[in-house]
Amino acid sequence: MLLSLANFILPLFNIFFPLNVPQHPVYSRTLTFNLRHFHAVTPSAHVYFADAPLRSTLNADTQPLSISTAPVRTARPPSAAAFLEARALSMRTQSAALDWEEDEIPGPDVSKRETLLLLAKMTSNAYVEPDTGEWYNLTDEWGIHAPVGWEPDDDGFRGYIFATDDNNTVVLSIKGTSALFVSGGPTAEKDRLNDNLLFSCCCARINWSWKTVCDCYRGGWKCNQDCVEEALIEESLFYPVGINLYNNITDMFPNANIWVVGHSLGGALASLLGMTFGVPVVTFESPGERMAAQRLHLPSPPSTHHITHVWHTADPIAMGTCNGVLSSCAIGGYAMESRCHLGNIIEYDTVTNLSWSVDLRTHAIARIIGGVLSQPWEAAELSGREVPALQRQDDCLDCFKWDFGNYTP
Ligand SMILES: *[C@@H]1O[C@H](CO)[C@@H](O)[C@H](O)[C@H]1NC(C)=O
Ligand SMILES: *[C@@H]1O[C@H](CO)[C@@H](O)[C@H](O)[C@H]1NC(C)=O
Ligand SMILES: *[C@@H]1O[C@H](CO)[C@@H](O)[C@H](O)[C@H]1NC(C)=O
Ligand SMILES: *[C@@H]1O[C@H](CO)[C@@H](O)[C@H](O)[C@H]1NC(C)=O
Ligand SMILES: *[C@@H]1O[C@H](CO)[C@@H](O)[C@H](O)[C@H]1NC(C)=O
Repeated sequence: MLLSLANFILPLFNIFFPLNVPQHPVYSRTLTFNLRHFHAVTPSAHVYFADAPLRSTLNADTQPLSISTAPVRTARPPSAAAFLEARALSMRTQSAALDWEEDEIPGPDVSKRETLLLLAKMTSNAYVEPDTGEWYNLTDEWGIHAPVGWEPDDDGFRGYIFATDDNNTVVLSIKGTSALFVSGGPTAEKDRLNDNLLFSCCCARINWSWKTVCDCYRGGWKCNQDCVEEALIEESLFYPVGINLYNNITDMFPNANIWVVGHSLGGALASLLGMTFGVPVVTFESPGERMAAQRLHLPSPPSTHHITHVWHTADPIAMGTCNGVLSSCAIGGYAMESRCHLGNIIEYDTVTNLSWSVDLRTHAIARIIGGVLSQPWEAAELSGREVPALQRQDDCLDCFKWDFGNYTP
């Protein structure tokens, strides 16, 4: 039922929110980007790359994409080996001190509405091919030919790589694998397994009749903690596939400053990559990924200010309210129970400020682009900002009804 609903969501949104939103002027401190590579990762974790057509093969008037930047504080692990070691220690419940290398690097200026808008369009483009009606032209006359190597039938992680002319800054834009908004596909069941492992409290045991994704439930509200961690680490390809993808990109652009953006599940992956590699991240409508980061035992960097989550209050997935047996998520077979996010949050209160109703359909990336980011946000401008003030969820608690421990069956 959810999928058939999803089938008409995207076309419907295109009617309500035309995709060719107006283009915008260029700022003084800007980077210009070209589409460089397409990536698609199949469920077997193999990465295919195909070079995008060079700009010279496109319309000579083609303008590159521009984004304003601001200094961002980040922390990187000293080496991949040190990170893995700290992670392994943490899995054996030993404390893991890591000598994070703190640094200040140019990141996207998330206080600018147009930066968020352009990153959201790059993120949205991860779902489509350049010659389709859903592709956002990133600047006037930006034209792309359908590339070779982009496997339309592969429903794994997919997206685009944008790079500046000098290869100094690269944006990786990741599409989520979730079948919530891209109906069906060969890996729909795998996607559901992934979502339910990542964002549910205890193996997606919504009620006794559900087929759970792991076997960690111990009666009442009890759940075996080691069991849910092992299930996530062993059964889910999500994080290792993301690591491979990132490593492939650093291999291609060894000296680049890399940013990662993503929507929904792709946003959650972007954030975990940001935690791992200390790169600037902007996500849109990501479900709460903090619990997944903890269950995966990712070492915590001294600061997570380089990660920014953007969402609006009518989206039950980002808000962590798409749960309970009667929710649209549960009806579709998804247990989206987490609500706590890492890093900073930019929350658009569309429920109060635009009188939107809470509705799963507002989760679509087209909705935040067309309905929120494409025009000035009055509530923020009244206090002299372009976007809502940054918030954090440091006191947030996931799955508070549950007891997690070393419970035996
Ligand atoms: C995007 O650019 C292409 C090529 O210039 C053009 O054909 C297409 O209509 C544009 N799409 C939108 C939505 O403006
Ligand atoms: C690129 O990805 C492939 C498949 O995931 C992996 O085998 C390979 O080691 C990666 N390359 C680099 C340089 O990390
Ligand atoms: C940018 O990186 C790509 C991919 O690695 C490479 O083909 C290209 O020559 C680089 N361009 C510059 C200006 O370094
Ligand atoms: C269990 O959940 C399913 C799916 O949400 C629902 O159809 C069913 O009625 C629920 N059963 C009980 C006993 O609550
Ligand atoms: C927007 O919503 C906030 C509550 O989140 C409220 O305080 C503010 O007055 C609203 N502003 C406008 C312009 O509606």
